[in-house]
Amino acid sequence: TITAVKARQILDSRGRPTVEADVMLEGGAMGRASVPSGASTSRSEAHELRDGDAASYFGRGVSRAMANVAEEIAPLLRGRDADDQAGIDGALQALDGTPRLERLGANAVLAVSLAICRAAAEAGREPLYRRLGALAGAGDPMLPLPMVNILSGGLHAGRGMDVQDFLAVPLSAADYPTALHDIIRVRAAAEDVVDRYGAPVLLADEGGLSPGCPSAEIALGLMVEAIERAGLTPGRDIGIAIDVAATSLLGADGSYALSREGRSLDSAGMIETVAGWVGRFPIVSVEDGLHDEDWSHWPELTRRLSRIQVVGDDLFSTNPERIRRGMDLGAANSVLIKLNQNGTLTGTLDALATARAGGYSTVVSARSGETGDSFMSDLAVGAVGGQIKIGSVRNTERLEKYNQLLRIAEEPGVSYAGARFLAGRRG
Ligand code: PGA
Ligand code: ZN
Repeated sequence: TITAVKARQILDSRGRPTVEADVMLEGGAMGRASVPSGASTSRSEAHELRDGDAASYFGRGVSRAMANVAEEIAPLLRGRDADDQAGIDGALQALDGTPRLERLGANAVLAVSLAICRAAAEAGREPLYRRLGALAGAGDPMLPLPMVNILSGGLHAGRGMDVQDFLAVPLSAADYPTALHDIIRVRAAAEDVVDRYGAPVLLADEGGLSPGCPSAEIALGLMVEAIERAGLTPGRDIGIAIDVAATSLLGADGSYALSREGRSLDSAGMIETVAGWVGRFPIVSVEDGLHDEDWSHWPELTRRLSRIQVVGDDLFSTNPERIRRGMDLGAANSVLIKLNQNGTLTGTLDALATARAGGYSTVVSARSGETGDSFMSDLAVGAVGGQIKIGSVRNTERLEKYNQLLRIAEEPGVSYAGARFLAGRRG
């Protein structure tokens, strides 16, 4: 039984305010969780409530979200059974009364939703991933394939490159610790390669390098070089994934601005350009090659890239209705899953189940602004997300999540997904 719910303002990895919630249960169990924050966001994500008071944290304070927890959420939940995650999340959604949690704030609601799950796991003396597995009903727990940021551009690196993420995907490693080690080798080699390219090795928001290449081809070339320099084979040991984050390339006239290349493209031009990259480099996954409302062109992008994984992030915004709409159209073959795009744990589990039921793969993802909370790692294992995207192997807010997977890897009965869930008809 829930006895108290409390929220506080803490700071995320960009030094910006975010919400942390504590949930106390009768008998002494406690759960704590905090929420991340994106920079390249979609218009259809759950709403992050900010104060807008310029004098406090540049308008990014979350005191209104905290007040909503204290004045509305805590009184609603006191006395309720923490085991009833779905019932509680439904009650929170109903209390808010808007589809995108605009009134209470998805940051307030999600922090509480996740803290309740942690408290229930602690009360039941079970690891969080086990509790999540029971809620998801997805079968035996499995460590996900990591998709790891090596080079950064877009809104995570001052628009120094047009494409937001160039990631390494370990294809040949037989277990998670080996996969992580392969990635560390590539990340170290990338530092040499970027240094020799003449760019500074400063870190972007997710800990990736931002060499400021004038074209995606040059950045992809650096990726291949880094993989080879690490003693690994591109396309066999390590595949490349990209997140174009095309919503953030949208110009006022509705075209896609590749500003570093000095070109503006329509949707057909973007599809050609992305397909060209995929044809010339060992790319196994492309995320958000088109923007979040370009529904009419996503099916064509998906057909052109059908041999590989085509991930919808902003397009789906972890929203089951949008995922179903995409499936009806043949848009993408994979769904990025971000807890705070949805706003509740139950809604996020619903998005995962919806994707799986339609034969789409899933990638559980962090945000560019993160806290030390590693809830998403347990979610990826317990709900069998299959793949995970956390950012680079730098900075504690990222490493805490990779390290949580190392801890879970010690547990009996947990297997490793490897590349088996990577969508597409490769080979
Ligand atoms: P964001 O970026 O957290 O800034 O939205 C992550 C992504 O686009 O995948
Ligand atoms: Zn993305």
